[in-house]
Amino acid sequence: MKAKAFTPSVSFLCFWVLLGLGTSGLLQNDDIGIESARYISWEDLSVAEDVRRERSLKHGNGDSREYLAPSNAEDGSRVIVVEKNGRGDSVTVQGAVDMVPDSNSQRVKIYILPGIYREKVNVPITKPYISFIGSQKYVGKTVISWSDKASDRYSNGSEIGTYRTATVTVDSDFFCATAITIQNTVVAVPGDQGNQAAALRIKGDKAMLYSVRILGSQDTLDDESGSHYFLKCYIEGNVDFIFGNAKSLYRDCYIRSNAKRFGSIAAHHRDRENEDTGFSFVNCTISGTGNVTLGRAWGNYARIVYSNSYIADVITPAGWDDWSDPARDSEVLFGEYNCTGKGADRTGRVPWSKSLTQDEAKPFLGMEFISGDQWLRL
Ligand SMILES: *[C@@H]1O[C@H](CO)[C@@H](O)[C@H](O)[C@H]1NC(C)=O
Ligand SMILES: *[C@@H]1O[C@H](CO)[C@@H](O)[C@H](O)[C@H]1NC(C)=O
Ligand SMILES: *[C@@H]1O[C@H](CO)[C@@H](O)[C@H](O)[C@H]1NC(C)=O
Ligand SMILES: *[C@@H]1O[C@H](CO)[C@@H](O)[C@H](O)[C@H]1NC(C)=O
Repeated sequence: MKAKAFTPSVSFLCFWVLLGLGTSGLLQNDDIGIESARYISWEDLSVAEDVRRERSLKHGNGDSREYLAPSNAEDGSRVIVVEKNGRGDSVTVQGAVDMVPDSNSQRVKIYILPGIYREKVNVPITKPYISFIGSQKYVGKTVISWSDKASDRYSNGSEIGTYRTATVTVDSDFFCATAITIQNTVVAVPGDQGNQAAALRIKGDKAMLYSVRILGSQDTLDDESGSHYFLKCYIEGNVDFIFGNAKSLYRDCYIRSNAKRFGSIAAHHRDRENEDTGFSFVNCTISGTGNVTLGRAWGNYARIVYSNSYIADVITPAGWDDWSDPARDSEVLFGEYNCTGKGADRTGRVPWSKSLTQDEAKPFLGMEFISGDQWLRL
């Protein structure tokens, strides 16, 4: 879904923002020598909320545009403000993404004020270095929500399929998000046909999500490809609700099953031995309802490890599922290390899952798992 029409005054502001970006190097390319830092830092996840207001009051004419302030005083990065009622640069998130020029080479922060944004959002591959930043003061109040499901049809009659259901799709690299909620409101029950419904699909490389809520039912988070860092995120669903073939570290996250009866947390798609991918959950809390598995072997060489985590009584004794293909039992790496809680009891576990030793767990525990030294400076 594309951005809705802007009001005339906002259209004018859009023009102004683009002009501002253009004259300050955002449209320039690498051979002119201006290039964004090729890493993600805390700075990329924040806007100076107070500075913003002061500047906008100075610039503004005292009317309802008090939020307008397209440049962040702190680090010179651009800020585009999204506000539902027209007090920012765009009334939709997609409208703000559309304002970023193609071949973008500098960090652009899209500051999304509290509200429920009912839209689908796509960050195209041509627009790296984009941050979605919600209000730190009203965490949980900035929600991007949609409700496509796999069995929905295009006007030509063909089904859209799981991948196209995502409320937010990120195709570009160096994406960051914080203090926002991304939701797909479709509710699936196991055994349903066509109710797969993703909230977030992330295909770009080198992304960090900090304190983001990702809500759905079946196939909530399509963690598809690239290296990603999820820190203190809340992820909810029931069947395969974290799936894909990315190499991701989930640290200090709260993973909640909302299954009524059964389901599965992670479905990893590593299909060949030489693929350097996997999901590592470290110091997470696993909780919720129903009886779910820790993971399923969607790919022949699926790799999923839980370490230092608290696992409540929501895990089936067997713990893991080989997708009804016993050939995968000897190929997958499904590991647990130093977990606590009733759900961490390995007495009934499938024998082909592993209790890892400290040495075996070590490569999964820290930032080195996602080569963080190459793209994160936190
Ligand atoms: C139907 O439309 C979608 C979206 O435009 C397109 O991707 C798909 O290929 C089309 N399917 C057929 C059978 O034409
Ligand atoms: C583990 O996660 C909790 C909850 O997010 C956090 O308070 C704590 O500092 C983390 N511990 C370590 C060792 O990272
Ligand atoms: C989960 O499994 C246990 C043990 O098999 C069973 O007693 C319980 O009813 C199940 N819970 C749900 C919500 O299906
Ligand atoms: C085991 O996990 C706990 C909880 O996260 C952590 O505090 C502790 O350091 C871990 N122990 C080892 C040996 O890794």
